[in-house]
Order: sequence, then C-alpha cells, then structure tokens
Amino acid sequence: MAMSRIVYVNGDYLPEEDATVSVFDRGFLMADGVYEVTSVLGGKLIDFDGHAKRLERSLSELEMESPLDRDALLAIHREMVRRNDITDGMIYLQITRGNPGDRDFAFPEPGSTAPTVVLFTQSKPGLAQSPQAQTGLKVISIDDLRWGRRDIKTVQLLYPSMGKMMAKKAGADDAWMVEESGLVTEGTSNNAYIVKGGRIVTRNLSNDILHGITRAAVLRFAREAQMEVEERAFTIDEAKAADEAFVTSASAFVMPVVSIDGTRLGDGKPGPVAARLREIYLDESLKTAI
Ligand code: PDD
Repeated sequence: MAMSRIVYVNGDYLPEEDATVSVFDRGFLMADGVYEVTSVLGGKLIDFDGHAKRLERSLSELEMESPLDRDALLAIHREMVRRNDITDGMIYLQITRGNPGDRDFAFPEPGSTAPTVVLFTQSKPGLAQSPQAQTGLKVISIDDLRWGRRDIKTVQLLYPSMGKMMAKKAGADDAWMVEESGLVTEGTSNNAYIVKGGRIVTRNLSNDILHGITRAAVLRFAREAQMEVEERAFTIDEAKAADEAFVTSASAFVMPVVSIDGTRLGDGKPGPVAARLREIYLDESLKTAI
C-alpha cells in the first residue's frame, strides 16, 4: 500500500486524508488566495528566495498579512521534503484569506480571521529529464479572457484550466493566450518566448503577465552568456514566423515549443537556443538550490 502524503495545514503535518479546510474558507468560495509552486531537484529547493519574495508581493497586493516570514517558510518547505521523502518534484503552497465563519463579499476585518496556509508535495522522479524536453510542445493560441491583475499569483485558475482543455481537445499540449490586439501574453501556466535570428523575445513585465521566477533567472543567465534579449510584446503571427519558441515555469524549467496552431517552427524540432538555456538554467539553479 502506498504511504499517504503528509500535507501541511495551519501548523500541523497530517496524512492527507486527515487534513481539512472549512467550507467557508474564502479560497474555496471566492478564489481569495495566492499560491506558489517551487520545484525540488536532488532534495533541494530551486529558486526558493524568488518564490518567497513573489509570495510576499502577491499577499501585499491583496492586502493580506503575511503569516510566515522567509525563514519559517523555508523550514516548512524543507520539512515537507523530508517527511515526504521527495528527491525530485514540486511543493505547492497556498495561502487564503481564511474562514470568516460565513459568506460575505467584503473582506473580514483585519486581524479578525487567520489566513489558511496549506502545503502539499508532488513527487516527480526524474523531473529534470522530462522526455518532453526532447520532443517539444505543440501549442495552440486562445483568447486571453483572464482578469487584469495577472501579476498576482491567485488561485483563480479556471480560465487557464479551460485553456489546457482546449489544447487537449485540439491534440496539442498547451495554449498561449492572446489579447484582442494579437499580442501574446503568456502560456496557461508558463511564460512564453520566441527566438528570431538568435535574439530572444519575451513579453515585458506589467500587470498583464505573471512575473515568472524562472523567467527572471533564465533572462539573467541568457544575458550572462552574451545572448541577445528583448523584453517586449510580440504577436502570434510573429511567433509563427519565429525560428524557435519555448516556455518557462518552475515545473517545466525551459521547455521547447515546436509548433503553434499547427504551424511548425524551424524544422519542427526543439531549437538550439531553448536547449542551451535549459541546460544553463538547470546547471546554474542547482548550484544555488537550498
Ligand atoms: N505556474 N505564467 C503563469 C500564468 C503561471 O501560472 C506560471 C507558473 C508562470 C511561470 O512562473 P514561474 O517561473 O515562477 O513558475 C507564468 C505554476 C508552475 C503552476 O501554476 O503550476
């Protein structure tokens, strides 16, 4: 029999079947919560400080008190890795505005309601050796129908879930979201990049996209390796005419994209820039893993 996962709920480490959250929790009723996904390689946390900082920012943008400081968060993440014996995988963390005891659109009075803090692990042995990195992803384009504060990492993931389903139904792996203007924002759960003439192009930071932690690291490594980087919006048509494309996220690292809406990029195989960045990102981020 498989050992049950140990999850964290508000200070307790419990078998997953014993963990509960109230039906009045604002995360459940209003999607009033934020989350982070941190990957684990070789039992160590990748880009932990970046995720901890973005969590602080998401909470503060929603006027939520931060219940745990960076060191307390790190200790809980490490304890989750230890208790669940995670070598490679992910740690999911969610903080909601908690259970005010009833349903009400207004936020509870500050200090009256404890936030809900939940963590769980996902074991993914060999995460960094994903076979998809060799074949690449097929993406489709879909309208971006999300709200206007995509820079806050909220648990409001219905549209990205629908986007994944649209991709699946179309026989693709993922979807890139496109504004009315034709400009690409990002993937359903990753940041989007194209490469043309050796130059890497990815959307500039604003409220329109999530400020990816992997994005920040990858762009830094690309510049250190003297690669040309341009942070600006690009259209879906420009993307289809690119030499190559890729996405980044905490769970996928750097993942090549080989076709968009059925249009093959280059020779239809993962491109050299994506492959090189994946290698650099994995090497460098393992060095600073904690
Ligand atoms: N998703 N954009 C969106 C919309 C995302 O949901 C994510 C992350 C990213 C990449 O951010 P980062 O590099 O910090 O992971 C960009 C996570 C992995 C998820 O929802 O599972």
